[in-house]
Amino acid sequence: MNLDNKVSQLAKRRGFYFQSAEAYGGVAGFQTFGPQGAELKRNIEESWRDTFSRGLGHKEIEGPTVMPEPVFQASGHLDGFDDMIIECPECGTNTRADHLVEDNTGVEEAEGFSTEQIEGLIKEHGLVCPECNEHLAGVEVNDFNLMFKTSIGPGDGTNGYLRPETVQGIFTEFPRLKQYARNQLPFGVTQIGKAYRNEISPRKGLVRTREFTQAELDLFIDPEEDRPDLTDVKDIELKLYSVEEQKSDEGEYIVATVEEAIEEEIIGVNWIAYYLGIAKEWYKEIGIDMDRFRFRQHQKGERAHYASDCWDAEADISGEDEEEEWLEIAGFSYRGCYDLKKHGQHSGNEREFKIFKEYDEPVVQEETKVDIDMGILGPEYGDEAGEIAEIIEREVRQAPSVAEDGPIFVHLDGEEHAVDNSAVEVSVEEVKKTGEEITPEVVEPSFGVDRTVYTVLVHGYNEDVVDNEKRTVLHLSNEVAPVEVAVFPLMDKEGLGDRAREIASELRDSGLNVEYDDSGNIGKRYRRQDEVGTPYCVTVDYETLEDEPETVTVRERDSTEQERVKINELEEYLSSKL
Ligand code: GLY
Repeated sequence: MNLDNKVSQLAKRRGFYFQSAEAYGGVAGFQTFGPQGAELKRNIEESWRDTFSRGLGHKEIEGPTVMPEPVFQASGHLDGFDDMIIECPECGTNTRADHLVEDNTGVEEAEGFSTEQIEGLIKEHGLVCPECNEHLAGVEVNDFNLMFKTSIGPGDGTNGYLRPETVQGIFTEFPRLKQYARNQLPFGVTQIGKAYRNEISPRKGLVRTREFTQAELDLFIDPEEDRPDLTDVKDIELKLYSVEEQKSDEGEYIVATVEEAIEEEIIGVNWIAYYLGIAKEWYKEIGIDMDRFRFRQHQKGERAHYASDCWDAEADISGEDEEEEWLEIAGFSYRGCYDLKKHGQHSGNEREFKIFKEYDEPVVQEETKVDIDMGILGPEYGDEAGEIAEIIEREVRQAPSVAEDGPIFVHLDGEEHAVDNSAVEVSVEEVKKTGEEITPEVVEPSFGVDRTVYTVLVHGYNEDVVDNEKRTVLHLSNEVAPVEVAVFPLMDKEGLGDRAREIASELRDSGLNVEYDDSGNIGKRYRRQDEVGTPYCVTVDYETLEDEPETVTVRERDSTEQERVKINELEEYLSSKL
């Protein structure tokens, strides 16, 4: 059985995650997090919040998951958020065409190819439908938009879409968010929430779902002024797989500190290098195995429509003796001013999507002033006079000389008008400027929470032998383990159960996440907690009641070593360990 199957079975057995609505046959691409999985996921989200939101002084918002169509016209998702689909003429199965090519040929990163190139590769390699083996040569490959469409309100309603990324809810609220940031760049806004993509071929478990959780951060910067403070991250070592290394036959990882990666221009955007450093430390803290982790730069063809550079955090999710399988778990994109510009244009509120940048000192500039005598233009051009005046003003500002000799030629609706220059007076004035409107640029670390949960489980999973018995154990980090302490009575009799319940309750009151368990023998209970990844188990036995002061056994998950601890010191003991 491969590692993914083992983890999926454990996930189902212990309540981490499982196929949703199985009683109705289930629909691919939707998973439910069970009690342990939901807790694990919340712990990961909370840890992310501590690091990337509160930890960096950024502010978190919570926007709706349904947004109106114009938002996605502006963002480019309506026109450009497509995957390639091929429909089998025999059985009707829809398959993601670039994945079909990647999975069955030596070709990598086929996502960046055109539909024609993919059709060519399908023909050249004689690829067949994965469901019924029908040959697909000559079958058309089409673009398929990944957004879920809905209708807002009764009747014909208004077209809406489930957001395909949470950050559109940050960009659309920029006019208010900049006020909360007192119009000062740089400022960061975060959001953790659901996003939706109507995947053509959802993949195993949590890897490619149609509904998933993102933890995203948009940092708004003035690219001319704002630089990251590297003090805490400059020496963090990164394992980097740049585009150049990917293209070279002998391509290797580059190991460089954050500072070196910037100075040697391995990473072109200093803010991306900064966030990679922070992300690496965070991944370590939540239990991702650094020997199975790297940052990979996107090749040109795979970048999203808004990104000018992007690095992914990737984890190898294969088991021992299996072929490497790298999974994207986060992306760090440089979105530039793409989104704010588009939302400014499409909403008709361009100024709202800019920020006023104050100069250190006011500057005096010469400005061309254009006065147009509407008393002349009005009678001559009637309804068109206003538009003609606007065009003249714009052109004369750009090139004042056009008003110097003879008529000014204006083109409107395919017609040329020669406007007498006596109607236009040009002067140059000195104006004191205290600043200017700029469109901030955006750096965006975006994390897939479900895939992070999956990777934490895959990297934590292990099988070993304890007391001549095979055990399955999850080596989860204390930071995210869903249960921190399990409390057992040796047996639920002679007062042991009552005392154990009291201890569990006291530990809960101290803020720990505690599970009480008295079913089955003690060995079985240890195995259950090992499979959930519980770092400590506390057992109340006969000695407990006899000892003065009372004591319990504390057993550590990884070493399985046991220690006798006084109950009146138990809370402090566990808190210091956890
Ligand atoms: N916001 C980046 C992404 O959803 O891929």
